[in-house]
Amino acid sequence: MFRLTDFTYEDKTVFLRADLNSPVENGRITSDARFRAVLPTIRHLLNDGAKVVIATHQSRPYKGDYTTTEEHAEILGRLLGQEVEYVEDILGKYARERIRALKPGEAIILENLRFSAEEVFYKPLEECERTFFVRKLAPLIDHVVNDAFAAAHRSQPSLVGFARLKPMIMGKLMEEEIDALSRAYESDERPRVYVLGGAKVDDSLRVAENVLRSGRADLILTGGLVGQIFTLAKGFDLGDTNIEFLHRNGLLGLVDWAEKILDEFYPYVRTPVDFAVDYRGERLEVDLLSGEKKLFDKNPILDIGSRTVEKYREILMDARIIVANGPMGVFEMEDFAAGTVGVFRAIGESPAFSVVGGGHSIASIYRYSITGISHVSTGGGAMLSFFAGERLPVLEALKISYERFKGYGR
Ligand code: 3PG
Repeated sequence: MFRLTDFTYEDKTVFLRADLNSPVENGRITSDARFRAVLPTIRHLLNDGAKVVIATHQSRPYKGDYTTTEEHAEILGRLLGQEVEYVEDILGKYARERIRALKPGEAIILENLRFSAEEVFYKPLEECERTFFVRKLAPLIDHVVNDAFAAAHRSQPSLVGFARLKPMIMGKLMEEEIDALSRAYESDERPRVYVLGGAKVDDSLRVAENVLRSGRADLILTGGLVGQIFTLAKGFDLGDTNIEFLHRNGLLGLVDWAEKILDEFYPYVRTPVDFAVDYRGERLEVDLLSGEKKLFDKNPILDIGSRTVEKYREILMDARIIVANGPMGVFEMEDFAAGTVGVFRAIGESPAFSVVGGGHSIASIYRYSITGISHVSTGGGAMLSFFAGERLPVLEALKISYERFKGYGR
């Protein structure tokens, strides 16, 4: 795959596909983590005299955090210390005019790519190549740099469509992510511990199945909704309220799959021994084996309990490789952040080589100033796909582009 340093960019127009999709509350972006992560690539291009066309998606149509990229332009401009013009267009005449008007060392950001219908579907590379998006912009572009690791599991025009038309190059973040994740995935230093939490239960089950079956994990610690599904699969009752919640969110059907994983790998999948429920607005910890477990009936589980954190901590301190994705609970509520913060802190303090990701949930790492994690991945779903052993369309496209253009002059 091409690296950023394989080319020079003086006076070249570079289409930089980043993933600046960020959490939004009350109409404002609440974390600049993904912006900071792409700064080294943008700085490299600008310092080298490139004309940089930045593009990102933000959420999906009709969702509450689906916005324009106006604030993205402001944040990038502030972090870079130079203007990043917000172009309220994607592939139309206005966008093409602003791209043509760029001077070396200048940057613009296009409108939210998912305002364009073509960018909302997942299509194979060949079809992405034929979209109006690619056909309108390709004649204006010299190189494509892809730094959107967090969207690497998506096959959409801006992510893969240029691969056979232009040299498509890994950005610095993309390279760092691939290096760190591959190191964790391929290592045979033991013990290798995977911590699976959050709400993406089916993705996490795919990871568990893959890393256990391929002998890449020695132990799996579970939390969040993943932990609840495995707890049910072990035959424990989590009460009507919690079971209804899992049912409403379409997760209850996954218990059977979790059971199958346990049939094969029972001793290697650990589940919480206690949970924290919201009892009349306060955190209350309930032991799974105690008589108090009837409290699960009426009170929602929002975190793992402190005994679980202690047990997980001991295991993590002895690990050599740690891969963690997703929070242990609803860390956005201060009373229920203890599980996530406790586990992430233990990962930071462990001497293991550690990779932690989970899309928006990595915000908790910054909010609680957790240090010592070897690599904080910007990827949520992309990271899970990687550890599930799946092919990531963006990595495939980078390889195709390399094969196509490797003999060309730089
Ligand atoms: C993410 O946050 O996981 C990426 O930005 C991908 O977003 P998507 O799941 O909406 O494609």
